[in-house]
Amino acid sequence: MALAEETKRITAQFDYTDDDVNKGVKEFLRQMSEGLERDGTSLSQIPTYVTGVPNGTEKGLYLAVDLGGTNFRVCSIHLNGDTTFNLTYSKVAIPKELMVAKQASDLFSFLAKQIELFLRKHHEDHFEAHIRRRQTVSTPEGYRDEQIFRLGFTFSFPVQQYGINKGTLMRWTKGFDIPDAVGKDVCALLQQEIDRLRLPVKVAALVNDTVGTLMARSYTSPGKTSTLLGAIFGTGTNGAYVEKVSNIKKPIEGDYDKSTGLMVINTEWGSFDNQMNILPNTSYDIELDQKSVNPGIQMFEKRVSGMFLGEIVRLVIVDMLKNPKISLFRDDNSSQNDWKSTTTIAPESGLFKQWGLDSSLMSIAAADNTPDYSSIRQELEKQLQIYAASLEDALAFKDVAYAVGRRAARLSAVALGAIVLQSGKLNDKTDEPIDIGVDGSLVEHYPFFRNMIYEALAAIEGIGPEGAKRIRIGIAKDGSGVGAALIALVAANMEKKGVVDYLNYIKTSVVEKFTNAIAETDEPTTIV
Ligand code: BGC
Repeated sequence: MALAEETKRITAQFDYTDDDVNKGVKEFLRQMSEGLERDGTSLSQIPTYVTGVPNGTEKGLYLAVDLGGTNFRVCSIHLNGDTTFNLTYSKVAIPKELMVAKQASDLFSFLAKQIELFLRKHHEDHFEAHIRRRQTVSTPEGYRDEQIFRLGFTFSFPVQQYGINKGTLMRWTKGFDIPDAVGKDVCALLQQEIDRLRLPVKVAALVNDTVGTLMARSYTSPGKTSTLLGAIFGTGTNGAYVEKVSNIKKPIEGDYDKSTGLMVINTEWGSFDNQMNILPNTSYDIELDQKSVNPGIQMFEKRVSGMFLGEIVRLVIVDMLKNPKISLFRDDNSSQNDWKSTTTIAPESGLFKQWGLDSSLMSIAAADNTPDYSSIRQELEKQLQIYAASLEDALAFKDVAYAVGRRAARLSAVALGAIVLQSGKLNDKTDEPIDIGVDGSLVEHYPFFRNMIYEALAAIEGIGPEGAKRIRIGIAKDGSGVGAALIALVAANMEKKGVVDYLNYIKTSVVEKFTNAIAETDEPTTIV
C-alpha cells in the first residue's frame, strides 16, 4: 500500500490542470508576439521565406535527406505529377560519437557517405551513368546538369535561414554538441562533403522538419482546407505555422513574395519559456536540465519530447528506489511478489545510466491494460534487466510513465492551441476543419497522445469543446522528407527558369489551397 500511496504523491507533481493549460496558452501567445517583434527571444519565430507550396502537378525524381535527432534518413521521391508520389527510403542511426564530434566535417562526411550508399543501392543506373560521363567528358561543365540530383535537406535544428539553400546553425539541440558547426552554413557543410565524394548531387533546398511536414500535409491533406500548422513530437519537438506577414514586426532580410501576405514561421517552440515563467518544474525536471548538455535551453522540449520523457521517468524511479519506506522493485521475500519470486535489478541496468530508459517503454506501459501487466513486466526485463518485477511494481511504473506522458500531451496542447488562436481561424464562418499535420515517434506510437491533446484543447478558453472538434490533427508520416523534396522541386524549377530570386518565383507557383490557410479576419483572437 505504501508504494501505491507514494506513487500517487509523486505523480501528483506532474498534474497539469486546465488552469495551468490556460496560463500556458496566454504566455505562449505573448512569447509568440515577442518573437515576431525581435530576435533573441525564447520563441525564435524564424521566418522561412516559404510563402507557397507547389500544386501537385510537378514531376521528377528528387532526393531528400533528413538529419533529425536519432536517425539520418535518405530517400528518393518520384513525384508523379498527379499529387501522388513514390518513396524509396533508408534509415541509419547516427553514431553517438558523431553527435558530439570535434569537427563538423566528421558528421557531415558520414552523411555524404550515406547518400552515396543510397544512390549505389537504389539508383545505380543513374549513378553509374554519372561516373561514365565523368570519365568521358573532359570538363565538369560538360555534364548535363539535369543528371544531377536535386536534394532537399531537412535539418531539424534551429537555423537562421538566408535563402532557399543557405542557413547558419544557431544552436544544437537533442544531445548534439559540435561547437565547430555553430554559425556555419549547414548546406555548404554538406555540399563540401558531397563534392569530396564526387556525387551527382546538389543541395537545392534547406528546410526544417516542421516546415517539411506542413508542406507535405498541405499537399496531401484531405479536402480543400490548407494546413495551418506542421508539428513534430518525436525525439525533439517544434512547430511551423502560416503567419500573416503583417504580424511579423521584426525585419525580414532580403526580398520575398508579398502577394500572399503570408509566410511560414518556424517557431522553434522547443525553447518556449526558457525563462521559466509558467513551465512546470519538478525536482526531476531540474536534475534532468542540470545534467544535460544545454542547461537552461529547450526547456519546453525537455518536458515534452521523446528524448527527455524516458529520462524524467528514470529519475523518478531512481528516486523511489532510494526511499527505504517503500519497496519498489524490491521484495523482502518471495511471498511479497505475485510471481512468488524476488525482484532483481541487474547492476548494469539502464535504470542506473543517464538516458538509459527509452521513452518507447512508456508507450508500452501506456498500452498494457492486461490484468497482470505482462507486457510491462516483460519489457522491464528486456529493456532494463529488471527480473521478476511484481504486479505492484508494474503498476507503479505504469502510473509514473502515464503522469509524465500526460503532462507532455497537455503541454503540447498549449502550443497547438495558442497557434490556432493566433491564426484567428476559429472565427471563420465555415465548417472546414483547422488542419494540423503531425509526425514523430511520440505522437505516432504513444497511445492516446492525441486524445489527451484534444482533451486539453477543449479546456482552452477561446477554443472550448466546440472549437476542439473543428481542429483536425492528422499524421503526416515522413512528411519532412516529402516536404523537403517538394521544396527542392520548387528550387529546381526556379533554377531552370533562370529565376535567381526564389522568393519572387514562389509568387507564380503559390496555390489557392495555401492562401486560405489563415483566416480572412485581421482581428487576432485574444483570450482573457
Ligand atoms: C529542433 C527543431 C526541430 C525539432 C523536431 C528541435 O530540437 O530545435 O528545429 O524541428 O527538434 O525535430
